[in-house]
Amino acid sequence: KQAEPKYIIGVSQCSEDIWRDWQNAEMRMEANFHEGVELRFTAAHDDSELQSKQIDSLVESGINLLIVAPNQLSSVSPAIDRAYDKGIPVIVFERKTDSRKYSAFVSADNYEMGHLMGEYIATQLGGKGQIMEVKGLKGSSPAEERYNGFHVALAAYPDIKVVAEIQGDWTEPTAYQAVKNWKGDMNSIDLVFGHNDRSAIGARKAFEERGAKLPMFCGIDALPGPDGGIQQVRDSLLDASYIYPTHGDQLLQLALDILDGKEYPRETLFTSALVTRDNATVLLLESDEVVRQAHNLIKLQKKAASYLEQLSTQRTISLLALVL
Ligand code: FRU
Repeated sequence: KQAEPKYIIGVSQCSEDIWRDWQNAEMRMEANFHEGVELRFTAAHDDSELQSKQIDSLVESGINLLIVAPNQLSSVSPAIDRAYDKGIPVIVFERKTDSRKYSAFVSADNYEMGHLMGEYIATQLGGKGQIMEVKGLKGSSPAEERYNGFHVALAAYPDIKVVAEIQGDWTEPTAYQAVKNWKGDMNSIDLVFGHNDRSAIGARKAFEERGAKLPMFCGIDALPGPDGGIQQVRDSLLDASYIYPTHGDQLLQLALDILDGKEYPRETLFTSALVTRDNATVLLLESDEVVRQAHNLIKLQKKAASYLEQLSTQRTISLLALVL
């Protein structure tokens, strides 16, 4: 019989996509290093109402701590507050809540990311050009912060104009459809900035389909692995991306520190870096190596688990032999 878990941690993800898959895998792997940690994941498919219900159910199911990426700034906050008010520690990560009811907040600096992208793009365009921006989900904090940072940076370049602001929702099909529906002249666009890589790739597909002159495409996330942004930059599908760190392992470690009553920072901001054609090949090699090592580690963890299980069965058998 499996021992009762010491800690049950609920992870409420707002979406299901490769960025979140990656992060969940990192959390799982870290959890394997600690005894008695059970993770319960939910994914809300970009639906705030569903996410609120899922949070309530997680709380109901008896979690000891909640890790949550709220779909939007305010619509999920009442559910998070309900959890917090029940005495459950809450880590808000990556997307913000407009409530103060959380134990810790962990993210990268989305405003800074938008700002750096703006500066990079202005340099790429030589200070002059027309931009299409494909925005992330309305009311979702990274979309607002990336937008603000981007526009503040571009304000220093009067000859650069954002001529199209397309409303996306972080997903590739929506970005594709919205750009496809755009009535303006695609040939007049010099660069597309997608608030994430999937939006930039969706936009690219719409341009390709229209047979328009292909502008430059920039995004954010720069995930490792096949179909990740680093590879898309290396393969020239994207001109640049920005690493949006997942760091699921550190997130889980923070959760355990909180549960163990250790000291912890109320706010953690991860630093990050731009991916361009100049460094994409090296970054891809490095990240492939990390993925390879991670797979080795998983193999090792599985082996250790089966060995321990064998050991415990043997122990039970010897005990039974003694008793009978
Ligand atoms: C993943 C994601 C990323 C994006 C982030 C914004 O769900 O859509 O692609 O950078 O969320 O919160």
